[in-house]
Amino acid sequence: MTAADTSMSFLLSCVCVCVCVCVCVCVCVCVCVCMCVCACIPVCLRWVFLHEKAYQIRDTAIESSVMTKVKGFGIYNNRVMDVADYVTPPQGGSMFCIITKLITTENQVQSYCPEVRYINTSSNLLFICNTSMSCNTFSFSPLFSFPLPRPFSSSGVPTGRCVRFNDTMKTCEIRGWCPAEIDYLKTEPMMEVENFTIFIKNSIRFPLFNYTKYDRNFLPTITQNYIRTCNFDMVNHTYCPIFRVGDVIRYAQQNFTTLAHKVHGGVIGIKIGWMCDLDKADDQCNPSYSFTRLDAASEKNAVSPGYNFRFAKYYKMDNGTDYRTLVKAFAIRFDVLVNGNVTVLCCLAKACYQAQKSASRKWQFE
Ligand SMILES: *[C@@H]1O[C@H](CO)[C@@H](O)[C@H](O)[C@H]1NC(C)=O
Ligand SMILES: *[C@@H]1O[C@H](CO)[C@@H](O)[C@H](O)[C@H]1NC(C)=O
Ligand SMILES: *[C@@H]1O[C@H](CO)[C@@H](O)[C@H](O)[C@H]1NC(C)=O
Ligand SMILES: *[C@@H]1O[C@H](CO)[C@@H](O)[C@H](O)[C@H]1NC(C)=O
Ligand SMILES: *[C@@H]1O[C@H](CO)[C@@H](O)[C@H](O)[C@H]1NC(C)=O
Ligand SMILES: *[C@@H]1O[C@H](CO)[C@@H](O)[C@H](O)[C@H]1NC(C)=O
Ligand SMILES: *[C@@H]1O[C@H](CO)[C@@H](O)[C@H](O)[C@H]1NC(C)=O
Ligand SMILES: *[C@@H]1O[C@H](CO)[C@@H](O)[C@H](O)[C@H]1NC(C)=O
Ligand SMILES: *[C@@H]1O[C@H](CO)[C@@H](O)[C@H](O)[C@H]1NC(C)=O
Repeated sequence: MTAADTSMSFLLSCVCVCVCVCVCVCVCVCVCVCMCVCACIPVCLRWVFLHEKAYQIRDTAIESSVMTKVKGFGIYNNRVMDVADYVTPPQGGSMFCIITKLITTENQVQSYCPEVRYINTSSNLLFICNTSMSCNTFSFSPLFSFPLPRPFSSSGVPTGRCVRFNDTMKTCEIRGWCPAEIDYLKTEPMMEVENFTIFIKNSIRFPLFNYTKYDRNFLPTITQNYIRTCNFDMVNHTYCPIFRVGDVIRYAQQNFTTLAHKVHGGVIGIKIGWMCDLDKADDQCNPSYSFTRLDAASEKNAVSPGYNFRFAKYYKMDNGTDYRTLVKAFAIRFDVLVNGNVTVLCCLAKACYQAQKSASRKWQFE
């Protein structure tokens, strides 16, 4: 062996060791990285699944049908009022009105008569006149310069004549349904409305999953007997489908007296929320109710407070002339609003796709 050979073999073994160490380190690093990644993925997925709820597919498009029925008797103007008298429209849909006050003008015929409504602008009583000259301003004159809400100001078409209203007063004449309605009379609301009950039946369907619940805002455990006697409340009877009007108004943070009398009506929303997780048992997909005043903004609006509308009943005299009874009704309107969403657990994108495609709820369970 020469010295050169010795140094050569030493060099070789050095390189060998170096390579070995390098390979070892590499393998180690690789294994470490792999282990890290392996450990990380489930954690990541877990995080995504649990915190971001990315594993759930959700359907918020709800199809719903609502049927309502109001019950109770009230006494108004010495007459007993039943459902046909105070509920409108009568079909029992998701929107209905319960009339609390009425102003009735009977035996109106097409004719000419003195105006009875007036607008009190800065204490000038419009429509009160001395001569026909002062009525010209109310007919459709282009000279008429200051803004007057004409459609609201008059009970009919002004003729421009000044006629006798009573012994001390003359008003401008109108042509229309006479005698004209006096709608500023003070009337008391029908207090019994507070005790009326509203029965609500609600069927829903989530089209994405073809998931349907018929009339199931009351649970299968609820018996006929229970429905006959129960009244919804937020604590003991959260699934009773019968609501006392007074309670609904109270849950909407309103006061019946104020709503029916002081502000002359309003709009109350009865919201039914369905939040269903189809991975849980079917009987856990139940409605929750909440109540709100929908026209709360109009509360502070001085222009047209409350909720009212007019309708007329038409009759014929023996000689063929039409006459009518005009009713101005003040009402509390109820809007039943249904919303909800349904979620289903989904492990793979493909599965999600399938679930959406076949819209099969069964697949999730079978
Ligand atoms: C008209 O308005 C004035 C002040 O705004 C009031 O003093 C007067 O009583 C009102 N007249 C009628 C008939 O309402
Ligand atoms: C009508 O005439 C009387 C007396 O002539 C007068 O006092 C009153 O202000 C007049 N009213 C109107 C609306 O012009
Ligand atoms: C005429 O009607 C006005 C307004 O309604 C009323 O203030 C007045 O007392 C009435 N006059 C008579 C004589 O009835
Ligand atoms: C509502 O019903 C209760 C109990 O049945 C009764 O005490 C109350 O007088 C009724 N209210 C009205 C306005 O009829
Ligand atoms: C939805 O489900 C009902 C029965 O639950 C079934 O009769 C109907 O065919 C299904 N519709 C679709 C589009 O799958
Ligand atoms: C619910 O029931 C309990 C016990 O029967 C009763 O004390 C409570 O007043 C009830 N709550 C309501 C809101 O009716
Ligand atoms: C409603 O308001 C009236 C007067 O504004 C008050 O007398 C009555 O006690 C109130 N009712 C409720 C249930 O708060
Ligand atoms: C019909 O009869 C009423 C009252 O009896 C009368 O006011 C009206 O003018 C009559 N109409 C016709 C077209 O004769
Ligand atoms: C699903 O319903 C719940 C409760 O009603 C609601 O908080 C949530 O915002 C809804 N999600 C969607 C996407 O509408």
